[in-house]
Amino acid sequence: MCGIVGYTGPRNSVQPILEGLSRLEYRGYDSAGICLKINSKLEIVKKEGKLENLRAALTETNPSSHVGIGHTRWATHGAVNNDNAHPHGNDDFAVVHNGIIENAPVLKKQLQAEGWVFKSQTDSEVFLVLLTKFAKETGDTLKAMSKAFQTIQGNSAFVAMEKSTDRLFCVKRSAPLVCGLNPVTGEAFVSSDPFALIGYAPEIFFPQDGVIGCGSVKGHTASMDFFELDLTPSTRFTAQKNAMSMDATSKGHYEHFMLKEIHEQPALMEKLVAWAIKGEGLSTYSNLKGKAPEYFHITACGTAWHAGLVIKNFFERFNNVRCCVEIASEFRYREPILKKGEVGLFISQSGETADTLACQELCHEKGLPTYSIVNTQGSTLFRHCDQNFLIHAGMEIGVASTKAFTQQVLTGYLMSMGYAGKLATVEVYQEIKTLSDRVAAICEDAAAIKEIAEKLYHKKGFIFTGRGVYFPIALEGALKLKEIAYVHAEGYAAGELKHGPIALIDDNMVNIAVLGPELFEKALSNVEEVKARRGLIFAVGPKGHPELREVSDMYYELDFNGLPNLAPVMVNVVLQLLSYHIAKLKGTDIDKPRNLAKSVTVE
Ligand code: G6P
Repeated sequence: MCGIVGYTGPRNSVQPILEGLSRLEYRGYDSAGICLKINSKLEIVKKEGKLENLRAALTETNPSSHVGIGHTRWATHGAVNNDNAHPHGNDDFAVVHNGIIENAPVLKKQLQAEGWVFKSQTDSEVFLVLLTKFAKETGDTLKAMSKAFQTIQGNSAFVAMEKSTDRLFCVKRSAPLVCGLNPVTGEAFVSSDPFALIGYAPEIFFPQDGVIGCGSVKGHTASMDFFELDLTPSTRFTAQKNAMSMDATSKGHYEHFMLKEIHEQPALMEKLVAWAIKGEGLSTYSNLKGKAPEYFHITACGTAWHAGLVIKNFFERFNNVRCCVEIASEFRYREPILKKGEVGLFISQSGETADTLACQELCHEKGLPTYSIVNTQGSTLFRHCDQNFLIHAGMEIGVASTKAFTQQVLTGYLMSMGYAGKLATVEVYQEIKTLSDRVAAICEDAAAIKEIAEKLYHKKGFIFTGRGVYFPIALEGALKLKEIAYVHAEGYAAGELKHGPIALIDDNMVNIAVLGPELFEKALSNVEEVKARRGLIFAVGPKGHPELREVSDMYYELDFNGLPNLAPVMVNVVLQLLSYHIAKLKGTDIDKPRNLAKSVTVE
């Protein structure tokens, strides 16, 4: 989702801004822009499409400026075009925005009635106009930032620059924002993601909601000052060293990040289990013993929601804990019944997903302890939760989540084992080791999966089916395929097929049937039902079942032995590779699929 990078300091700001924006490209966007202060004027360049377009436009003029703000936009209000791209600016100010201004239509009408003119269809421009208006009224940009921020509703982050000084201003509500300093080079930065600042700003600061940050440079000294909305100095920010590394940002010998990330899974699983059972994580997990709550409210979005559906099985089976898994955007608006003794558990790769954060806030306000299963240390979710279970997946760059799902499920399993007091047992360690070996073997066998993809990629639609714990795997398989291959794919509980979707079955519709040893016969009957209607069947299931081989057009056999609890993760890897190869055959932009964002910071 929208990426923001702001710079003020001695060097040409174009370089750190473009480099920062390019690091945030993986999050998904549809246009890019930059504002630079050149000869005391604010010059804005904006281009629809990839960052390359902006870079090319800048190469032509080769501008130089010591202060600037850049933005990659993921459209919410207004079509994708140059006018709606950010920054939005006028003679005095320029603004970039991530989020949604909910009262923008009302404010825009009022401002237009006062004679203010708008150049775009975006809600973001309302903030620019408010800032300009209040600056004219008060003669003070900080005051104007505060007033403009207090006038708007909704969750957003804003960064602004002005013609009259080289300062950067920022403020946010429930949206990611980080400020950075390099005391040696005398540079100040603002961004939506600390990743953009690696190598530039060793010191980073996370302002809390409603804290105005102001970055400035005097002589060789850069400073970052924080103010409350009444403009008194604020201490509501966390300061830390930027501990992120650039290691994850190379594809190595892989053609895509997604493929690299699929292949990383065996090693990551082993790393996680070693950390949790033998390493630093041991105390966190073993402290859980005997402390299972009465009820888990699990909320998440997308792939993380599917991981929650798998994890529910563990808590119910091993801990006798009731568990409700809900889509975060639903949970937050339906007045859920939350009681003492219950725990809110939030699953998120980024730790910045707006709806998931809102659920955490809701549970926290109602007095529930809040836990996260999260990948990004230092993310908003990580900072807001009472307890965090890190999945140690490393940075995930491919928009379609793969390794994060696997590590989320394993983390849930380790939590469940922790509550049951069975964590440091040979069985747990051995099962994860077995899983890692089997997944490595599947990755080695990619040619076989590619062959199946070749037979399927031109088909009209795909229905993924599964029962029990394989139902969420069917959902995840379908999500992956539609995300990156742009084909219609649905995940269904196999037993529900006959209640509607079976009407879609014909020889151009593929049933990807996921079967495990549990409920095998029942799932097999569902496959038979599809066969009877001339559907094309690709089954992924346990080996040694000639009857499944006979009924399926294609069959990928797996060894489920030694995986009583974690086999769904293994099956899912087959589906990850299948989606990858289908998408590759279709020639889509696998790592940055159209319209999608890696981290959805608006609701
Ligand atoms: C987006 C991504 C998905 C991800 C979901 C939740 O839709 O494209 O891959 O599963 O957000 O993200 P989170 O960071 O909260 O896990």
